[in-house]
Amino acid sequence: MEFNEIIETRRSIRKFKDKNVEMDLIEKIILNGIWAPSAGNIQSWDVIIVQENENKSKISKAAYMRDFISKSQFILVVCANMERSAEVYGERGRELYCIQDASAATQNMLLTAHNLGLGACWVGSFNEDAVCDILNIPKSVRPVALIIIGYPDEKPYPPTRRSIDEVIHIEKY
Ligand SMILES: Cc1cc2nc3c(=O)[nH]c(=O)nc-3n(C[C@H](O)[C@H](O)[C@H](O)COP(=O)(O)O)c2cc1C
Repeated sequence: MEFNEIIETRRSIRKFKDKNVEMDLIEKIILNGIWAPSAGNIQSWDVIIVQENENKSKISKAAYMRDFISKSQFILVVCANMERSAEVYGERGRELYCIQDASAATQNMLLTAHNLGLGACWVGSFNEDAVCDILNIPKSVRPVALIIIGYPDEKPYPPTRRSIDEVIHIEKY
């Protein structure tokens, strides 16, 4: 796919085929996440690969019973590594940069999944404490996004976007 086509045709996919996704595709997705920009190139994020049904179903509950999550093939739990960024940037690293690093990586991973013919959805609505308990995530690390992955079994109509005029401010807000 051409670059603009990848950007424009990526959709949040919430219905998946019962078809196995190979681990080497997940590795390709994560490798492209690593190429995302990050504050000071500190790359203050980590990812937990979740494939086991029991864990997927627990995470689905922690995400308020969204059924499509347990029916996916993989969940990538993208975590902001607060300490890693705070060591270099203090409070701004802990509160902002690590989340931005994780988010930039997340977007790279969503686009890569789409380019590989997979479907993915960024899920931000979940109980953080529950996810930390399920996955044994330490206090210095914060799960910020779930990337739900599988082969797509839907082709959603593109949701509307704001116009460029609505988004742009010239010279001042
Ligand atoms: C920060 C963030 C949080 C999101 N959280 C959820 C979520 O909890 N559940 C969900 O189904 N989709 C979630 N989404 C996906 C959005 O609903 C989706 O990107 C938006 O409606 C635009 O649709 P599109 O991705 O198909 O272009 C989230 C997206 C972002 C960027």
